[in-house]
Amino acid sequence: MELPDVFAANQATLLGVLLAGALIFLGLMLRPKHKNLPPKVRTIPIIGGLLKFLKGPIQMARDEYEKLGPVFTCKVLTRNITFLLGPEVSEHFFKAPESEMSQKEVYKFNVPTFGPEVVFAVDYPIRVEQYRFFMEALKVSKLKGYVDAMVEEAEAFTSKWGDEGVIDIKAELEHLIILTASRCLLGVEVRKHLFGEVSQLIYDLDQGMVPISVLFPYLPIAVHRKRDAARKRLEEIFGGIIEKRKKSGIEENDMLQSFIDSKYKSDGRPTTHGEVTGLLIAALFGGQHTSSITSAWLGAYLMTQPKVLALAQQEQLKIMEKHGETLNHDVICEMNYLARAMKETLRMHPPLVMLLRYSHKDFDVEVRGKKYTIPKGHVTAVSPSIAGRLPTVYSNPDSFDPDRFKPGREEDKKAGTYSFIPFGGGRHGCLGETFAYMQIRTIYSVILRNFDFEIVGSFPETEWNALVVGPVGPIQMKYRRRKLTQADVCADLLPESTV
Ligand code: HEM
Repeated sequence: MELPDVFAANQATLLGVLLAGALIFLGLMLRPKHKNLPPKVRTIPIIGGLLKFLKGPIQMARDEYEKLGPVFTCKVLTRNITFLLGPEVSEHFFKAPESEMSQKEVYKFNVPTFGPEVVFAVDYPIRVEQYRFFMEALKVSKLKGYVDAMVEEAEAFTSKWGDEGVIDIKAELEHLIILTASRCLLGVEVRKHLFGEVSQLIYDLDQGMVPISVLFPYLPIAVHRKRDAARKRLEEIFGGIIEKRKKSGIEENDMLQSFIDSKYKSDGRPTTHGEVTGLLIAALFGGQHTSSITSAWLGAYLMTQPKVLALAQQEQLKIMEKHGETLNHDVICEMNYLARAMKETLRMHPPLVMLLRYSHKDFDVEVRGKKYTIPKGHVTAVSPSIAGRLPTVYSNPDSFDPDRFKPGREEDKKAGTYSFIPFGGGRHGCLGETFAYMQIRTIYSVILRNFDFEIVGSFPETEWNALVVGPVGPIQMKYRRRKLTQADVCADLLPESTV
């Protein structure tokens, strides 16, 4: 049967109206909710952001900072990553409560390495208690004992170098830092009897963290299987040590003991073997590569900047005049120049180049009089690498100048909170910062007092394609054993006030 013309005409109108309605609805749905979104990095659709990101996120962020300013969004596949570069725009990132800016979503790839009972695997209230265990384990009264162990390890280790030679200082210090961490964190049983097996297991854990693990941490690949086996075996080893300590009643001064003695305030229960193992692994992962990379860069600067070397030597001589050969926590705390040199090293070469949070709530940032809204669902990123080289914060940011942190100058403090962020800041600032300063100053104090040294080759380049960013290749150091005296210091390079 044929439809009457009038019905056909009405049907066409109806269809037209429906279509227009659908288009308006879709338009409303797809229209950005916020008018003042941050500028976007221009890329080819879908994979463009990923390609730019894979080429090197820090180089990309540096280039875009020049073009777009301190706040911009880059779409990487389906994710919007919004960069907040510099102290004026990063306060919310560091200060917001976990319900607004959280770590779990962006760092959960660590769960198979640390284990299912700690840190990013557990709910925030439990995690807060576990961070309290870290603070307890790293408080000054404990640290004093750790420093005695650091001194012993550094002296024993360097005594094996003989009278002269050439070494790869990067590899050597990495080894020394593992030994020290074993002793102060994992405990005397591991350091004395199980070092070989445990360091192999830690190595397997480390090798199980490849770039693909960040996206697919449970992918069934060989390195992940090895990682899981290593994690399991470590829990067996620490379980055995914990039970032995409990039975014998012997208490050691190390992080292991501190974790064994820790109790949750919420229900008074003690830690499990899995939690103790997981927290120890988290401490090693937080402190191992970061510290050994920092010590390698600092060595490279001491070997290539004669004035820095002279000032560091002079400081050692002054301290030896006062305290003789004694090296302990309180003496090391007086090494202010060495601390500034380490801080300057971290400003120029932070090992963690990008810190991330997941945003659960829209928030605003103001840049140079302009307000942007960052929508919930964005991943937000700050960069210690970029923050450390901002000419608005640091004068001559590409030159190595430890005295920029000297009382009176303090460029970071003058520019405001979150200007110096190699250790993060705010709610999740590094809990091992003091430990790291003590460890690296101990090592260089021992080296400066006992050796003349110089670099073989040139200052190293940066290996940007790594999760923890450090120098490329070995750093060869030629050394000769001697006891530091005034004659070893190049006095011409010293300002009069220090001689
Ligand atoms: C030069 C050495 C180190 C550097 C550069 C460094 C850097 C950092 C940074 C940037 C963060 C913050 C991460 C974020 O906000 O997303 C952090 C957190 C942390 N670090 Fe370190 N770290 C170092 C040494 C250590 C050591 C030696 C330990 C332990 C012995 C340690 C334990 C921790 C812990 C437990 C956290 C988590 C704090 C929290 O989320 O509340 N770190 N570290």
